[in-house]
Amino acid sequence: MMNSRFQLMLRSSIGRKWIVAVTGLLMIGFVVVHMTGNLQMYAGTPDKINLYAHFLHSYPAVLWAFRLGLLAVTALHIWGTISLARENRRAKPRQYAVAGRTSRLKVTWTSVTMVISGTVILGFVVFHLLHFTGQVVDKSYASMETTVSGVAMHDVYRMVIKGFSNPWISGFYLLAMALLFSHLRHGAASVFQTFGLRDRQLSRVVETGAWILAAALFLGFGSVPVGVMVGLIRP
Ligand code: HEM
Repeated sequence: MMNSRFQLMLRSSIGRKWIVAVTGLLMIGFVVVHMTGNLQMYAGTPDKINLYAHFLHSYPAVLWAFRLGLLAVTALHIWGTISLARENRRAKPRQYAVAGRTSRLKVTWTSVTMVISGTVILGFVVFHLLHFTGQVVDKSYASMETTVSGVAMHDVYRMVIKGFSNPWISGFYLLAMALLFSHLRHGAASVFQTFGLRDRQLSRVVETGAWILAAALFLGFGSVPVGVMVGLIRP
């Protein structure tokens, strides 16, 4: 029963729009929590973020369940957007027939920027996982250890500082954060449209809210590489 309902949802375009919206909201939830956690780089002591990372790794089964859940959510989000875009293209074979500044052209331009920003963000996440989680970009990260209250743990604080001491890496992170801002600004506002909650009066409020959320994430995430480069965050 549950299974067939889910299959129906996957097949209908409204169902897939909901899937894109709900998975998008879940990912927004993740980045908000992640960004807040990162701000511990400003705590004035490395211990705070190191203890936090240590805590997150102390229940491997929970961590892996969370990782697999996030992977499934990301896969569904990407699959949903690609399949909706394909369906749209099939439904409108002469999509470039309308010239000029029409709303149709605007929608097309927005979806092009969403695809570009989404693809670069995906590339960024792969690099980011190799960089800080897999620690394969710089092998020295893996041996960075510290002791807090007699407990040995990974020195995430020092790893992040070393990571962002490379201006190319910091630059790439900042570019990705700028594209994340653009992606979330459009994405967060259209979630409400999908849920049918976007009337004329609400639309300005929703768009402003999405802009503020995206800007807060850009500033919060972006401040870490910038903070390291200007010496605000130092060993
Ligand atoms: C300047 C910005 C960022 C910094 C400094 C940062 C820092 C980190 C660090 C240090 C880790 C590894 C934690 C550990 O293993 O102890 C991590 C993991 C991760 N980050 Fe980020 N991050 C940033 C931006 C982002 C963004 C924008 C996204 C998503 C779009 C993201 C997604 C992830 C994911 C999926 C993980 C893996 C979590 C896991 O281990 O399961 N990060 N990040």
